[in-house]
Amino acid sequence: MKIAIIYSSHQGYALECARQISEGLSVDGNQADLIEVKKETKKLDLANYDTVVIGGGIHAGHLSGALRRFCSKYEALLRTKRLGLFVCGTDKDNQEKQFVDNFPQSLLDVAVTKGWFGGRIVFAEQKGIMRFMLKKILKGERDVHEEKPEAVKTFMHEMG
Ligand SMILES: Cc1cc2nc3c(=O)[nH]c(=O)nc-3n(C[C@H](O)[C@H](O)[C@H](O)COP(=O)(O)O)c2cc1C
Repeated sequence: MKIAIIYSSHQGYALECARQISEGLSVDGNQADLIEVKKETKKLDLANYDTVVIGGGIHAGHLSGALRRFCSKYEALLRTKRLGLFVCGTDKDNQEKQFVDNFPQSLLDVAVTKGWFGGRIVFAEQKGIMRFMLKKILKGERDVHEEKPEAVKTFMHEMG
């Protein structure tokens, strides 16, 4: 079985999750390809894949524009795949809203599983206006660790 893991990540946590999923699902003769949505999607042929996992980091309520455009463009084809969706974010009170706001409803309806993997903010990695805004939101220069590795494991189990 061929599996595509299509992700977007600004600070690297969604990439870590996507990598873990691709390693976890590459067993028993299955092959999972890790594909960053903005760089490699032009040459991507979804017809080659039976299973597709899509997800990324949430910033100001949204997945990257490239990932959302990808889901809209290929919505009809993606509906025919074994589909898993995930989001990474630190706002645990709005998990369901993050899915509804960022994926077409028809994909949410057919997804085998939907995973909320928590998130991570490393303050020192932030620059410019983001740094300024985060300092206000977080009420100081602090890191946030809301990673949920057990949710990644559950997701892999449900996709496997
Ligand atoms: C500028 C900024 C805005 C963010 N906005 C949100 C948000 O609206 N909702 C949320 O749940 N998490 C938010 N987060 C937390 C990120 O989702 C978290 O850092 C996640 O790990 C990002 O994924 P990435 O590391 O793959 O980029 C924000 C983080 C930053 C730095």
